[in-house]
Amino acid sequence: MVVAIDGPAGVGKSTVAHWVADTFDFFNLNSGAFYRAMAVKVLDAGVNARDENDVITAAESAELDIIGGRLYLDGIDVEDRLRTDQVDQWSSIISTIIPVRHIVNRHLRRIAGTISLVAEGRDMTTVVFPDAEVKIYLEADPLVRARRRFQQGTSSRSLEEIENSIRERDHRDRNKKEGSLLIAADAVVLDTSTLTLAQVYEKVSGLINSYL
Ligand code: DC
Repeated sequence: MVVAIDGPAGVGKSTVAHWVADTFDFFNLNSGAFYRAMAVKVLDAGVNARDENDVITAAESAELDIIGGRLYLDGIDVEDRLRTDQVDQWSSIISTIIPVRHIVNRHLRRIAGTISLVAEGRDMTTVVFPDAEVKIYLEADPLVRARRRFQQGTSSRSLEEIENSIRERDHRDRNKKEGSLLIAADAVVLDTSTLTLAQVYEKVSGLINSYL
């Protein structure tokens, strides 16, 4: 069974997907982490994120694996390098490059195999797992998302800078030639600006239970 969850940056997808995966003992596939690991690969290779051909070459040679719930790039655990401001920005830029999306999608489908999973990202419900049994789209006001990110204390930026960066990433996410952020016709839409993440979790769990 596949539970696919999409939505913009900072909407609470990862938290909800993690809780749901724990509850139902499903594999948690965080597709954003794969774009982030590709950004780390590009950074370490000394390639400029806007040099498409060099980015594609670097992405092609990246070996990605999940071991013990942590993401490994070329045999090294990079989980602790994925959430910096620079990786936020670079992963957003390189995710607009179509061949990079195809490379990431290949990794996602290989790792997903035939196990039950919760897959979250931008195009899980539409492109990567269009036959998912449960599809959810989470949304929230950009300012609410920026406040949440600010309160996490993991960014060195001001609230206003975070909000601007979120709006910039939303714009890129919604204007991709492929894998753009869209609401699948058969997705259940939940607005997390007016719900706590615990309430979102309850609703998503309810949808899975009614399917099971
Ligand atoms: O969900 P996230 O913020 O960790 O994702 C990091 C970047 O990767 C984000 O800027 C958008 C991109 N992304 C994507 O293009 N498609 C996905 N399925 C998941 C993430």
